[in-house]
Amino acid sequence: MSAAPTLLLCSETDDLGDLRPAFEQAAAERCPGLRVALWPEVAAGAAEVVALASWFAPLGLPAALPGLRLIASIGAGAEHVLRDPGLPAGVPVTRIVDEQQARGMAEFVLWAALYYHRGLDRVQQQQPRGVWRMPPQRPAAQTRVGVMGLGTMGAEVARCLAGHGFEVHGWSRRGHAIEGVRTWAGDVQLEDFLRPLDIVVSLLPLTEHTRGLCNARWFARLKPGAAFINCGRGEQVVLPDLLEALERGQLGGAVLDVFEHEPLPPVHPLWHTPRLLVTPHMASSVSPEAMARQIVGDTARVLAGLAPVHAVDRARGY
Ligand code: GLV
Repeated sequence: MSAAPTLLLCSETDDLGDLRPAFEQAAAERCPGLRVALWPEVAAGAAEVVALASWFAPLGLPAALPGLRLIASIGAGAEHVLRDPGLPAGVPVTRIVDEQQARGMAEFVLWAALYYHRGLDRVQQQQPRGVWRMPPQRPAAQTRVGVMGLGTMGAEVARCLAGHGFEVHGWSRRGHAIEGVRTWAGDVQLEDFLRPLDIVVSLLPLTEHTRGLCNARWFARLKPGAAFINCGRGEQVVLPDLLEALERGQLGGAVLDVFEHEPLPPVHPLWHTPRLLVTPHMASSVSPEAMARQIVGDTARVLAGLAPVHAVDRARGY
């Protein structure tokens, strides 16, 4: 008797055990007969694994699962899947696209934009010195916020900021139209997009184009004193360049939610850098139920010979 088709939850960095009940529930509702296993309960070589739901799976694991029909990232980013040089060519890769996650991101970025717009960064610096000084107040329409990356999350963030009254600009590689947002596209427009911004937000995926994008040259293009909010990926920022830009005042402040190595080690100098706020990759996450519904739904589709709904373009990287 052959083993039941199996969806394997797998991460080398995180314990995914808490996700299993949501996946079992989704399997019962959407893909009866699909078993849910947690790596390493099912080892490399197991032919019954039809779907791999992963966050930094061991390199080479997908290639070692001969029955694999779907490789799903359990997050919005798929770079951790695509980093595997041996990824089997014909198997679709998906990532999470979720409205609730996009709304959570919009909340976080709105908070961070207001933090700078209302001068809370300055108030926080004053407090240890007992300084009572109101920061100047101005209408949101006089603060220009730029959003880099206009996918589901970036577009929701841009709309939310515009709805709050900020002057919002959006930049993406290929160009997008969003009502109430001035949009810019491609490398040729990057400099013009960046120059007038008071606050720049990155929601870019990690790709070969965005790795190291925020370097000394990029910081030099910003208006002196601009603030930076990074909710994309840590690898997009050249940290020594960011620290130098902060030191010189070219960068007025930064909120960093993502880091190349997470969790950020307790002794890391970033924890103690003035005008830099470290947040623990908390900007937005998807609920286990929404994640499981989407991934199990895509598994049912591929088992029925259909394409998954949330496929990543491997060449583009998102
Ligand atoms: C989080 O960073 C995600 O990819 O969902």
